[in-house]
Amino acid sequence: MKKPFIFINSAMSLDGKISTSEKKQVKISNEKDMERVDRLRAESDAILVGSNTVAIDDPKLTVKSERLRKERVKKGLPENPLKVMVGSIKEIKFDSDFLDYGNAEKIIFTTEKEDSEKIVRLMEKARVFVLGKKRVDLKKMVSILSDLGVKRIMVEGGGTLNFEMLKEGLVDEIYVAIAPKIFGGRNVPTLADGEGFKEGGIVDLELIDIEKLDEIIVLRYRILA
Ligand SMILES: NC(=O)c1ccc[n+]([C@@H]2O[C@H](COP(=O)([O-])OP(=O)(O)OC[C@H]3O[C@@H](n4cnc5c(N)ncnc54)[C@H](OP(=O)(O)O)[C@@H]3O)[C@@H](O)[C@H]2O)c1
Repeated sequence: MKKPFIFINSAMSLDGKISTSEKKQVKISNEKDMERVDRLRAESDAILVGSNTVAIDDPKLTVKSERLRKERVKKGLPENPLKVMVGSIKEIKFDSDFLDYGNAEKIIFTTEKEDSEKIVRLMEKARVFVLGKKRVDLKKMVSILSDLGVKRIMVEGGGTLNFEMLKEGLVDEIYVAIAPKIFGGRNVPTLADGEGFKEGGIVDLELIDIEKLDEIIVLRYRILA
């Protein structure tokens, strides 16, 4: 299998937080940055998020610009990239924007510990893969997406999923938009949470681009092997 190109895109405060102590969606970036994110989405085959992000933020994950959606269709692509969620299905609502908003295919990767009746109901709206007893095997997940023709995956958080994808060595690049704000808070989500890396496992990066979008600084990094 040729591994799809996988990148994380995240917006954070100067102190590295991706939401506030209320742990819900908060406006971090500006209009220009949202246009940049929309272009990245339009260039992707799949948008990947963790189950807490779906439960808390219920993101639409579609391409906002009609022009970009039309350009995708002209190229023979679906109007929107595939929406992909990984993790627990406990909190996902049947009328969530993740499942209902926009013209997009949906895939859920979850585990054997989840309620099988809910899995069957979700199958009315999404393809559901049960991969693993307690944890989703992310490498297998990427391999399945590759088999479905996915060549480019944009990971849109949250901090737990970002960490797991980095830990598995699946990420090629990271874009981070830094806002001139301080959110603070010991237990507030950051770009990469999970159990954290020990000294020997730290992920080293190479800075490959810097863009200034008014008050927002966008940094682009390549993951060093
Ligand atoms: N600013 C931004 O760019 C941005 C973007 C997205 C989200 N956010 C914020 O991030 C916060 C949510 O982040 P989060 O870290 O709580 O949640 P998350 O990463 O969205 O989702 C975490 C969930 O996914 C599950 N999961 C991850 N990898 C898994 C695997 N391999 N197998 C099975 N389950 C797996 C976790 O299970 P376990 O609990 O068992 O590990 C956990 O339940 C929210 O506050 C949201 O607003 C910010």
